[in-house]
Amino acid sequence: MIEIKKLDKRYGDGNHALKGISFNIDKRLTTVIGRNGAGKTTLMRILSTQLLQSSGTVRIDGLDNITDAKEIRKKIVSIPQEASPIGYLTPMEHLKMYLCARGMSLGDSTIEASRALKELELWHARDTPADMLSGGMKRKIFVAMALAANADTIFLDEPTTGLDPLSRIEVWSAIKMLRGNIILTTHYMEEAAELSEDVIMVESGKVLARGTVESLLKRFKGMARAETSSKGAKSKYVIGNTGITYIKLSEAEKYAKAGYAIKPITLDDLFIMQGVDIES
Ligand SMILES: Nc1ncnc2c1ncn2[C@@H]1O[C@H](COP(=O)(O)OP(=O)(O)OP(=O)(O)O)[C@@H](O)[C@H]1O
Ligand SMILES: [Mg+2]
Repeated sequence: MIEIKKLDKRYGDGNHALKGISFNIDKRLTTVIGRNGAGKTTLMRILSTQLLQSSGTVRIDGLDNITDAKEIRKKIVSIPQEASPIGYLTPMEHLKMYLCARGMSLGDSTIEASRALKELELWHARDTPADMLSGGMKRKIFVAMALAANADTIFLDEPTTGLDPLSRIEVWSAIKMLRGNIILTTHYMEEAAELSEDVIMVESGKVLARGTVESLLKRFKGMARAETSSKGAKSKYVIGNTGITYIKLSEAEKYAKAGYAIKPITLDDLFIMQGVDIES
């Protein structure tokens, strides 16, 4: 259980990355979803004791992120955004190095590393230098590290950004095999829908909405997005040169005939509905 109270972060240059957010995380897998600059990494770094907040409190299983940081670090794994393996080291070497650094004996780390590599189907590639592996396999090395470390809480900051759809599915299935509680960040609604029942939407350092993906998308049930760049058209929302109107699926043909582009509902629509300028 993670308790976040009035968490606020201002960077030295004045960037106000988190604006007094409060919520509890108590599900096995929680997704923090938001666009670039929303504050996801700032939040993850504070929760994983790598960055100090400006004010507010964080408790992880009752431990304070500042005064009990050392205790917390023994119980968590944090995989940073855009983590990339060392090219000339193999998956086995990465895992053993990581586990030894966490204080495990070499013997135990070999056993745990082997178990995790087998479980995540990386065993056949255990002795291949990371440089020779695909993007998806590289990410899986980090998921394997998290699995082998047997941590209570695992933070994954955008574990699938930049991967093709198939590699993404492969990493998802690896993430599902992790034990412990997981907090992951993403840009992708489909990722949140696939992996978690609890989605926290953040934007500009604030929590916009929270719930299951179904509950977040409920207001769009049976709807589509109609876009037009025609100046004469009336639209409820205007983003740059594009006017956006939410229509019933039954109206799609009519709008298409009138020159609108009909698009399926995506995460962007949640943000647009909340009054967020998606180009800002
Ligand atoms: N070290 C830093 N110093 C100053 N400002 C920062 C620093 N790190 C992040 N910021 C700012 O804080 C805000 C939140 O950034 P953060 O990296 O937490 O967002 P994010 O949601 O992780 O974005 P992305 O999806 O691009 O990774 C942004 O305005 C960013 O420019
Ligand atoms: Mg980030």
